[in-house]
Amino acid sequence: MIDQATIDKIMAATDIVEVVSDFVSLRRRGANYWGLCPFHDDKTPSFSVSQSKGVCKCFSCGKGGSAIHFIMEHEQLSYYEALKYLARKYNIEVHEKELTDEERQKRSERESMFIINAFAQEFFSKSLLETDEGRAVGLAYFKERGFNEDIIRKFGLGYSPEKRDALAQEALKRGYKTEYLLKTGLCREGQNDRIYDLFAGRVMFPVYSVSGKVVAFGGRILKSGIKISKYFNSPESDIYHKSNELYGIFQAKRAIEKEKCCYLVEGYTDVLSMHQSGIENVVASSGTALTPGQIRLIRRFTENITVLYDGDAAGIKASLRGIDLILQEGLNIKVVLLPDGEDPDSFSKSQSAESFTRYIKSHETDFIRFKTQLLLEDAGEDPIKRAGIITNIVQSISLIPDAIVRSVYIQECSRLLQIDEATLLSELNKMRARRAEQQSSRERYTQSEKVPSQPDEAQTTVATVVTGNTNDGAEVPPPHSLSDIPADEAAPAVQPEFSKKAKISPLDKYERELVRYIVRYGYRNLFETETGSWQKVWEYVVEELSIDNIELTNPLYKQIIELTSQQREYAEKQLSALREELRQKSQHELTAAIEQIRLESGDIAEKQKKEVEAQKQISQKAEEELQTFETNFLERYFTTYPDTQISLLAVDLVSDKYQLSKVHTKYQKVETESERLWELIPRAIYELKNAILEQTIKQIQKQIKEATQAKDEQKVIELMAQNVDLNNLRTTLAKQIGDRIVSPK
Ligand code: CTP
Ligand code: MN
Repeated sequence: MIDQATIDKIMAATDIVEVVSDFVSLRRRGANYWGLCPFHDDKTPSFSVSQSKGVCKCFSCGKGGSAIHFIMEHEQLSYYEALKYLARKYNIEVHEKELTDEERQKRSERESMFIINAFAQEFFSKSLLETDEGRAVGLAYFKERGFNEDIIRKFGLGYSPEKRDALAQEALKRGYKTEYLLKTGLCREGQNDRIYDLFAGRVMFPVYSVSGKVVAFGGRILKSGIKISKYFNSPESDIYHKSNELYGIFQAKRAIEKEKCCYLVEGYTDVLSMHQSGIENVVASSGTALTPGQIRLIRRFTENITVLYDGDAAGIKASLRGIDLILQEGLNIKVVLLPDGEDPDSFSKSQSAESFTRYIKSHETDFIRFKTQLLLEDAGEDPIKRAGIITNIVQSISLIPDAIVRSVYIQECSRLLQIDEATLLSELNKMRARRAEQQSSRERYTQSEKVPSQPDEAQTTVATVVTGNTNDGAEVPPPHSLSDIPADEAAPAVQPEFSKKAKISPLDKYERELVRYIVRYGYRNLFETETGSWQKVWEYVVEELSIDNIELTNPLYKQIIELTSQQREYAEKQLSALREELRQKSQHELTAAIEQIRLESGDIAEKQKKEVEAQKQISQKAEEELQTFETNFLERYFTTYPDTQISLLAVDLVSDKYQLSKVHTKYQKVETESERLWELIPRAIYELKNAILEQTIKQIQKQIKEATQAKDEQKVIELMAQNVDLNNLRTTLAKQIGDRIVSPK
């Protein structure tokens, strides 16, 4: 267990913008930050992060939550692992002993595989740098290829000893399980229940995920000319999907963002050499054509990809398909051909970062020109082949989602091929029409999937889009791209369960509103009682509900109220500690201020006035700090609560789009919700009670009708009396509330 105080400490240090920025490039727009959603195939920024509220949310797929939820979802971690991730990031100590043995055992399979891979990476690295064999064989090889120790460490390179079970033995000795050695593909089973290393005798290239975890290894043989495959790679597994990873992305992501461009090369060694020469915004697709998952990964950091190819034609042609994919994803693509016989690895050895970059800049060709030239060379003067080229190229252009970009390419193409622009355009439009037709007929078969609407450009608050709790009971659109992240039993699904419930009580919106006030302002003082003490928001709500024996229908709401009252003692303790701290701080500040004032010149009356003013200011500041704590206390508690149903609900409640935003101008002061709680919360109570009343009255009227039809006079009279009572109650309630409440317009 991690105790609440530690969680508080972690959350106080956590800046959600920083946390998300490790994976998504964010830009400020209005009050929030925006970026491409990492959880679905996002083309325009739908992912919004609110720094002040500490929450994030995708407007398209609905994923999001607190920083903890984000890490849980993105890294597929359990709640506690995500907390520990944040603790590590912010250097906050979490004692391992706070985890019980049971919890340790519950670590998910995926986590165990990551742990094994981390161990193996360390083992290979030590073998390379600290053993005689490793140094003589592995390190000598890397040195011969020109890699220095900095780069070897930066990319975690290693060496797997010749001995066929060196890793297996060491792992078992340390208590790692055979099961995970097999599942990660580091070892295989042999005879007599023994296990053997699969990478023995190779130099090792760990493949890091975008967040820096080792998901796989590539191992290269050292000798050339042997008839076994040059590279051996980890198999696909629960933690490794080759098509979603890019070699070098972890080490390159900051540079990609900074340079606003990503270089794409073929191999491990190309990435290493370019890094070593000082070009760090480079990733490798590892010998295969680029996949949509990989393109999406790049697009989180930049829209510009420059593909670097060695001059030989075979490689170029194979990659053309990849280029179409990039276009389709709406990215800008350029191509650079290296001098004949050079690959990025060899070329960067002869260049400085500057001269290499200069070469790239001066040889960058936009994709259409590149493809056209390439195909034209191929076709020569053959008219039929030339016609084929035109179709081929227009086909590529037709994939580009942006109309303006398409038309620019059509112009370019018309010039290069010396064909009338109008002809090309009509060809292009035909293709797009055909594709649209195919698309829509496909959709008719697979039933219409809801197209989520784009966020309003001007909107600056985080809105609730997907909690099944919206009043219209709309269906939650499926999170389409999450299928490429494996379901994980240990990492609980983040979509709240209750969202699947078909029927939502008509009272839900009123209940929800009350619970929202509790989560947001629960520990704020609301009304002063006769005894001079203060009634807190949550106490007021609980009291009002119990007066009329009202039970909330949604079990999650009930739980929130229960938890709130359970937190009372802890909150009181924290509050009195804070009060004491503030008292002392204010005292100090006041003393300092008075000393300062006394030193100044001026008459006594003037100074006294200043002193009073200073005192007022200081106590006001302390008051505000106290209020901030009271407001944040439950928000933080609930948005970081271990049960994700509760914490995600809380996130939605604190980021409610109907909240008033604070607007201060020179001329007017718009009051915020938090300043009008005394009026808003009683109104919310009234609205719930009123809704319950209306519901009951409706039922009675229905019963009266039935009783009348059944000619049950006695019953009709009884019910009529009840009806009158209820109507009176309604009037009283309305009057009562009218005294206190300005009814909504
Ligand atoms: N590759 C692979 N299996 C192979 C060959 C290649 O997985 N049998 C992948 C590796 O990721 C490799 C990339 O394709 O990095 C590019 O292949 P290649 O250019 O042959 O390898 P280099 O990385 O250039 O390695 P080296 O220079 O050491 O030959
Ligand atoms: Mn090479």
